[in-house]
Amino acid sequence: MSPSYVAAIDQGTTSTRCLLFDRQGRMVSVAQRQHRQHYPRPGWVEHDAEEIWRLVCDLVPLALEDAGVTPAEVVALGVTNQRETTVVWDRVTGRPVGPAIVWQDTRTATDLPALTSDFEVAELTRRTGLPLSPYSSGPKLRWILDSDPRLRERAERGELLFGTMDTWLVWKLTGGLHVTDATNASRTLLMDLETLQWDPELLECMQVPAAMLPEIRSSAGVIGHTREPIEGIPISAMLGDQQASLFGQTAFEPGDAKCTFGTGSFLLMNTGPDIVRSRSGLITTVAHATEGEPTVYALEGSIAVAGALVEWCRTSLGLVRSAAEIETLARTVDDNGGCYVVPAFAGLYAPYWESRAQGIIAGLTGYITKGHIARAVLEASAWQAKDVVDAMVVDAQVPMTSLAVDGGMTANNLLMQTLADVLDVPVIRPMMAESVALGAAYAAGLAVGYWPDRRVLKANWHRASEWRSEIADDERDRSHAAWRQAIDLSIAWGR
Ligand code: G3P
Repeated sequence: MSPSYVAAIDQGTTSTRCLLFDRQGRMVSVAQRQHRQHYPRPGWVEHDAEEIWRLVCDLVPLALEDAGVTPAEVVALGVTNQRETTVVWDRVTGRPVGPAIVWQDTRTATDLPALTSDFEVAELTRRTGLPLSPYSSGPKLRWILDSDPRLRERAERGELLFGTMDTWLVWKLTGGLHVTDATNASRTLLMDLETLQWDPELLECMQVPAAMLPEIRSSAGVIGHTREPIEGIPISAMLGDQQASLFGQTAFEPGDAKCTFGTGSFLLMNTGPDIVRSRSGLITTVAHATEGEPTVYALEGSIAVAGALVEWCRTSLGLVRSAAEIETLARTVDDNGGCYVVPAFAGLYAPYWESRAQGIIAGLTGYITKGHIARAVLEASAWQAKDVVDAMVVDAQVPMTSLAVDGGMTANNLLMQTLADVLDVPVIRPMMAESVALGAAYAAGLAVGYWPDRRVLKANWHRASEWRSEIADDERDRSHAAWRQAIDLSIAWGR
């Protein structure tokens, strides 16, 4: 029997990757490239969707070539993506009408209250599980259509198509299939969480013509076959990246949770078939929707800036030359020296939802060195996670007994120790920390019978490292109070 593999395309905020996995869930190949980030004005973040598609065209053949795998040996492809990022393109030419507006973009922050003149915010949240915030795709799409009346007319005539990156890539890969999945659709502010369909009243509220919307499909199941850059590979999963990592961590049971540390960080807890409505500032979202099975939901604490803060220290401040160096620099000191960094570059997401908050560095004295700032940078990710975990415990009404982590930043051992210190629960990193791509591959492979069931996937999961708290309760409480004070300052600064 010739070997066979499952491929995943992971289209993330800063880079795009194509990976191949074998039956044991081992990564046999990875091809990766970064794309450009555009910041044309304060708060604006844009991507070039065509550039990203060109990368996909290069990376898919490269991943196969590197592993010496032929297209016939790839039995399924899963597509996973940065969520909410919004693209509009011409149905005939296939060209985007402008830049993609990235999930972190806050250009709609000042217009948001006006969006709800006819619609109660509470009802909007009840139907979608989302707060009214610039984070979702709906306000971004409305902004694009409002920016030029000709675009709105063309959208109404069905000449323009909307999509998040999953939709854009699958449309390009298949030569014109216009689809999304329920996990991505659940991030738009346009889909009803219960019916998994576009909601006409929400469309009216966001002034979005139905003609431009993709069809909402299951997250797993054969959607179509690729035509480009390689012909004939079945695409059998589409999942937002954070839902994909929940799947990749094999968090299949209600109560299972994970936190992915990438550009931002995203803590999701599987709540099974129950739509748990947050009273503490979390998002209710679709974890995955598989045909013939009850939809699985999740509670999510989204944090906009995690790795992005380290990247900013590298590129904008020149504080470090590589992301890894931040740990070395932070280890030159024993503590933060009283310094706190609140990275509210995209406002503050969960659980605060303050779209106008601005980033601050608090507690500066002559004593503070680069080392203290590096430590405060790492601690910012841990404290944001702590606030999300506290909200999750209130909403889910179960204590968190451990937290599975994944993503690039989990290579930072000091961050992982700090996380265990502030959460006061064991933090566990699996052998395979590329859970996003693995989850997309798992969903795609299950859909075509490459893996017989989820039990087999669970057996592939192996613990690599574990961290436990090493600090006293009163020290944790004191630092947390100072962090919350810094959060208040960041919110006040933006008002
Ligand atoms: O909601 C945004 C999220 O999907 C972005 O993920 O991994 O690209 O930072 P990532």
